Amino acid sequence: MVGSPWSHEVLKAQGVNVVFRMRSSAPKGDHLASVARESFYVKALRNVDFQVLEGESVSLVGGSGSGKSTLAKVFLGFLRPKEGSVAYLGNDIYRLKGRRMREFRINVQPIFQDPYNSLNPARKISHSVQLGLFLHEMSKEQKEERVARTLEMVGLTPVDLFLDKYPHQLSGGQRQRAAIARAFIGQPKVIIADEPVSMLDASVRADILNLILKMKQSKNTTFLYITHDLATARYLTERMAVMEQGEIVELGKTEDIIESPAHEYTMRLMNAVPDIWHHGSRAPDRPVVPPRFGVDSDGEKDETSGYVDLGNGHYVKRG
Ligand SMILES: Nc1ncnc2c1ncn2[C@@H]1O[C@H](COP(=O)(O)OP(=O)(O)OP(=O)(O)O)[C@@H](O)[C@H]1O
Ligand SMILES: [Mg+2]
Repeated sequence: MVGSPWSHEVLKAQGVNVVFRMRSSAPKGDHLASVARESFYVKALRNVDFQVLEGESVSLVGGSGSGKSTLAKVFLGFLRPKEGSVAYLGNDIYRLKGRRMREFRINVQPIFQDPYNSLNPARKISHSVQLGLFLHEMSKEQKEERVARTLEMVGLTPVDLFLDKYPHQLSGGQRQRAAIARAFIGQPKVIIADEPVSMLDASVRADILNLILKMKQSKNTTFLYITHDLATARYLTERMAVMEQGEIVELGKTEDIIESPAHEYTMRLMNAVPDIWHHGSRAPDRPVVPPRFGVDSDGEKDETSGYVDLGNGHYVKRG
């Protein structure tokens, strides 16, 4: 699988495998449990090749347990894969040191599902947001000014009121706004947002997604969006990777995948959201016909990769 050859790869995973070993809670001496113990491995990522290209917005879409968050952690430098390589601007993330490590930490920022992952409950919002500038060489005054400006951008106004608040004094939506401020304040190159609205009240989800959209557009930030929700992936990203059981099963332009899904799993995901065809309206009576790739598609077969190339950067895992 390849991105456009002229695009710059900001993040690149190659042949990444992650296996988790599950510990059994069964008592010792229990024969059945010991058998289970030996075989209880979860392959969270299987031979994943994936690139995030400079300036693009790309989503990882898939059901629960498909490996989306695991891949996010691998790209954030939190989880070293057993096999494979992970690079930021061509340098192995897990070998970065000194200045390069600092640049990576500044430039690749997460937004989590739970804003408490980036907000210390015991500290004021001003403190937590300013931590996003922890590695920046700026004066105290410059940092304070930047915090105020960023809070304003994320809509936590009047700023003076929010600076001294504690996370528990905010609503869920306001807390996520503060977490977004913390992620964007240092003007990172890449934002990795893992289900940023799924814990929030349905009434504020659109506002928060629009805020992320506004923030990333204003700085042309590269954006990796993780979700189980095809509709928001379509709204926010121009390219999409569909994951199933630790594998990327389909990759391509979001519109191409939604207009003509090639993998059976993608079709199943789409059938779960019938009105994805038209923004907000009901689906037309359009049957989803699986293209019989490998038989009647124009796509070239690439025997080495296990993917069929359907053209225009659209790849589907061989069935
Ligand atoms: N720390 C861990 N220890 C053991 N197993 C884990 C761990 N983290 C993830 N897994 C397993 O790895 C697989 C992939 O998990 P992951 O969290 O990446 O999925 P996901 O696509 O993010 O799912 P969700 O949509 O529910 O967030 C799952 O089977 C999960 O149970
Ligand atoms: Mg997850």
